Amino acid sequence: MLLLGIESSCDETAAAVLRDGREVLASVVNSQIAVHSPYGGVVPELASRQHLTNIEPVVAAALTQAGITLDEIDGLAVTQGPGLVGSLLVGLSFAKALSLAKGIPYVCVDHIVGHLLSIFLEEEQPAFPYIALVVSGGHSSICRVADYAAYELLGRTKDDAAGEAFDKVAKLLGLPYPGGPAISELARQGNRQAIDFPRAWLDGDSHDFSFSGVKTAVANYVRLKRQQGDELPVADICASFQEAVVEVLAEKTIAAAHSAKIRDVALAGGVGANPRLREYLQELGASRGIRVYLPSPAYCTDNAAMIALAGYHCFQEATRALDTDVYSRSHLGRPQPKTGKHSYGGPNSVDRHRPC
Ligand code: KG4
Ligand code: ZN
Repeated sequence: MLLLGIESSCDETAAAVLRDGREVLASVVNSQIAVHSPYGGVVPELASRQHLTNIEPVVAAALTQAGITLDEIDGLAVTQGPGLVGSLLVGLSFAKALSLAKGIPYVCVDHIVGHLLSIFLEEEQPAFPYIALVVSGGHSSICRVADYAAYELLGRTKDDAAGEAFDKVAKLLGLPYPGGPAISELARQGNRQAIDFPRAWLDGDSHDFSFSGVKTAVANYVRLKRQQGDELPVADICASFQEAVVEVLAEKTIAAAHSAKIRDVALAGGVGANPRLREYLQELGASRGIRVYLPSPAYCTDNAAMIALAGYHCFQEATRALDTDVYSRSHLGRPQPKTGKHSYGGPNSVDRHRPC
């Protein structure tokens, strides 16, 4: 099955071709960083106009990279939300038009579900159920993923998302947008113990996050240094701030895995590209007997391969539901029936509500 994935929820126009839910034949990402960086953040109106200009060439580039034509595509998977409405509309309308013109079925995919499942684009994969830490520009949460379509929220941020905190701190330090990569690059040259920024552990065993405190602490530190006429130790600020965020993210994720008695943890979302978070999580996991799975950085940040992958599982569920046949006798205690080219688990396999 060849799926074309389309992603346009924020400031990346992306298209990907995925074979049989496993093999990425093409993944093209057109970033709008140059358009938005003069403004220090994403300007929604500019983003949707850029998507409009980019979507057709990006999809064409993905098909070329995969060495196929549109006629060979079996299904479309497109991001439905969450994100910027104007941006999302461009991708969804494009997919609907392709579907109508070419008679290709399409499924709508939740962007966060795409991130949650992005680890299945890799060779090394966790076993269900696993704990996923999803950290992006708009979301920071810990989820228990029971299967491709069953997710339970265990914790989430009470204020800023982790990526948002990186972006805001970068802005007040005068660093370019997006802030995450800029901070992690400078942090390499800094001392992560130089400044003791606060860690918000919150109550007891809470799996929730809060990053507004550490962001304010950095702002206060910078203001004081400027008032005193001191030179800003930018690399040390970056390293110390990054450490405060990373420590909380990693400790809470591993603690959540422990309390849920789950041995596998996967990282997801743009902040998952942060080298220190990857290192910290892996080391902490190893010391506590937890296996940590890391998607490659290109599959942490926004991409359409993860949307195609999540869409593939929506199609599988829809196919299974359509493939359901009647049966006259109970199968309890007997081998499960097979129908058509799909085999499925009999009576129990089709009675679960799926979000797709
Ligand atoms: O998942 P993503 O590409 O888009 C959203 O769904 O939001 O995440 C973007 C976020 C931005 O806030 C960006 O600063 C952050 O991910 N990010 C990073 C790094 N690379 C991207 N944060 C920390 N370190 C990085 N290396
Ligand atoms: Zn994202």
